[in-house]
Amino acid sequence: SLPVENVQALASKNPEDIPLRYIRPEVESDEILDDGSLQVPVIDMNNLVMGQVGYYEELAKLHRACKEWGFFQLINHGASEAFEHMKVVTEEFFKLPLEGWLCTGEGYGQAFVVSEDQRLDWGDMPFVLPLPASRRNMRFWPQNPASFKSTLEEYSSKLLSISMSLLELMAENLGANPEELTSKFKDCIQGMKMNYYPPCVHADKVMGLTPHSDATGLTLLIQINEVEGLQIRKDCKWVPIEPIPGAIIIMSNGEYSSIEHRAVVNVEKERLSIAAFHSPNMESNFGPLPDLAAKQGAKYKTISVEDFLKLIVSKKLDGKSLLDHLR
Ligand code: SIN
Ligand code: FE2
Repeated sequence: SLPVENVQALASKNPEDIPLRYIRPEVESDEILDDGSLQVPVIDMNNLVMGQVGYYEELAKLHRACKEWGFFQLINHGASEAFEHMKVVTEEFFKLPLEGWLCTGEGYGQAFVVSEDQRLDWGDMPFVLPLPASRRNMRFWPQNPASFKSTLEEYSSKLLSISMSLLELMAENLGANPEELTSKFKDCIQGMKMNYYPPCVHADKVMGLTPHSDATGLTLLIQINEVEGLQIRKDCKWVPIEPIPGAIIIMSNGEYSSIEHRAVVNVEKERLSIAAFHSPNMESNFGPLPDLAAKQGAKYKTISVEDFLKLIVSKKLDGKSLLDHLR
């Protein structure tokens, strides 16, 4: 991946003057559906406790959300405290100049810049790998604010446990052995991308994050400062996702395919979000669950997690066609 300029610094210099590489002529003409006619699913984790009244109803709702959307907002997930702590340190982190961080990050900025003439996103996206703990490299984690590391550790383990609960429920919904799925995610790889989208006077001509669908197992996204910007592609239109305070956005993959999404930029306000990606452990593989393959026939090849990760980094952000490589 090629080094790119730090957008935070760029945005603070001369906001009127935007380098050509950031201009995206297609953005202006895209059709946006924001009349509230599409209800994005909201799943209540409180109901997803076995024995709870409404358990099976919520489970069915979860299945529809995964199947028809590959996307939902999760409430009552039990991580509010960790989430609030994460908010505070992330806001502090992005108030500091990112320059010093540029060369040390595990991944910095736009991870998929593969050519000099590729259009760039209006955002900075420092990336760390909290899990597996054995591969954790604290050297790459933000040093400031001082509580960042411990806060991210707490947050990371909360998100892992939410992911495991969801995977179990999803396996149940798919008629697969939950153990078969959760065992793949034992010692899972968890990556965290902290997204910072500076405001831009030409917000209608730039793109915060290029349209893509996620290529990991399960993505949990939080909107740090509740500035709107995330949009999903549904029925050929872009649907803005209204931030629900405290909610976690889930994007699933596989039989439940990940919905195409992007992030747009605000004229006045910066926007912050954190995406946590969960992938099966390195010894495991990516492929159809045996129970599903037996029932429906395998629609995709099975490849090792290592090869899958290589495939991801060798390509530009186009999750859609990534799966085509596995057919
Ligand atoms: C992502 O897709 O990684 C982040 C999207 C967002 O910032 O809402
Ligand atoms: Fe994404």
